[in-house]
Amino acid sequence: MNVLLLGSGGREHALAWKLAASPLLSKLYAAPGNPGIAEEAEIVDLKVDDSAAVETFCKANKIDLVVVGPEAPLVAGLVDRLSAAGIKAFGPTARAARLEGSKSFTKAVAVANNVPTSASSTFTNLPEAKEFIYKSDVPIVVKADGLHAGKGVIVAMTKSEANDALEQVFAMGGNNDPVVIEEFLEGEEASFFCFIDGETVLPLASAQDHKRVFDGDKGPNTGGMGAYSSAPVFTPEIERRTLEEIVQPTVRALARDGTPYRGVLYVGLMITKDGPKLIEYNVRFGDPECQVLMPRLKDDLLTLMLATCDGTLGKMSVRWRDEVAITVVLATKGYPGDYKAGSEIRGLLRAGEVEGVKIFHAGTKREGDKLVAAGGRVLNVTATGKTLQEARTRAYRAVDLIDWPEGFCRRDIGWRGL
Ligand code: AMP
Ligand code: GLY
Repeated sequence: MNVLLLGSGGREHALAWKLAASPLLSKLYAAPGNPGIAEEAEIVDLKVDDSAAVETFCKANKIDLVVVGPEAPLVAGLVDRLSAAGIKAFGPTARAARLEGSKSFTKAVAVANNVPTSASSTFTNLPEAKEFIYKSDVPIVVKADGLHAGKGVIVAMTKSEANDALEQVFAMGGNNDPVVIEEFLEGEEASFFCFIDGETVLPLASAQDHKRVFDGDKGPNTGGMGAYSSAPVFTPEIERRTLEEIVQPTVRALARDGTPYRGVLYVGLMITKDGPKLIEYNVRFGDPECQVLMPRLKDDLLTLMLATCDGTLGKMSVRWRDEVAITVVLATKGYPGDYKAGSEIRGLLRAGEVEGVKIFHAGTKREGDKLVAAGGRVLNVTATGKTLQEARTRAYRAVDLIDWPEGFCRRDIGWRGL
């Protein structure tokens, strides 16, 4: 089979690495890709938001499956367009992708189907939202309705912070988009991933991300500074409840409404004292969570993705290596604020030779024979081991062999699991 993978982050490098190992694969193309992905796939010059160009490329190159990594093209309807052209694509349609593209849509689905989630209200004007904050308790959470590259969510500790957050978030949507205000949930966060073929849910595995930039979960939020899988807080009992109370009712509701969900569903959860509650859905793999799922997956990813597209997940099962995986994100100093691109990275070959280690590229670029940083999150140093401790020791051993003075990482990835 010929496969086209869209995206350019560490998530897509992990997907490329796993797809490249598939016995079904003839040729893997990737766009826009990165230097790590280029080791697994032929890079093609395509923009992921140019759906016409993607369609033309697929027809010219006999692409049997398009795998869409990031959310934006899904929310914009790339899968709808490809399907209409008879091209198989992994990921939800635009209407099903509203589970990530609109917080108010997800809240409405959750409420209508008794899915446990935080209490929330949706506002379309600032004075009413401020009035609501005035009457509420803090902490409280303010969310822009649409996609804002992870910057649309503010956890406000005081009312004055909440008011500032409202002004900011209303402005993001040009004062036209709804804003969701929700109750602050207490507990431990975990994420859970499932393949869904419209009807059947195939549970994959759990992971835990580290969103704050500094050790001890301090500092501003980021796209994720590291992850490990599986998450001990996500016990078999929590998994059973998550499937029964959250995932299944959502999948049934979308199917009933004529917008069946197909693809991978990222279930963002707070494990509270009353059980799992839904924080958010994402309609794609997590980044960096994908980087710790792929090394643990024993079965063929391409076979599972095809079954997801074809509606045959009911015949599938999935096996995982009895190992823990961890990934440490190396970022450019300054991230998630301003940072300088272009610094040289050395020592990757040596670091990649540490037992159990695989380094995924996120924001890197080749300049002549040099590898340079080209983004905020730059490398994902990933390791597996029999225990979390073993995996973590291996990952940090590799991190310490990388020569990149302009980079930094958290030194405490996996602390909750230890
Ligand atoms: P989201 O983009 O919805 O995942 O929100 C980003 C982060 O904000 C989450 O990973 C949580 O850490 C935090 N968060 C969002 N909603 C809530 C909530 N209702 N209660 C507590 N924390 C939340
Ligand atoms: N790591 C969080 C996300 O992918 O949304």
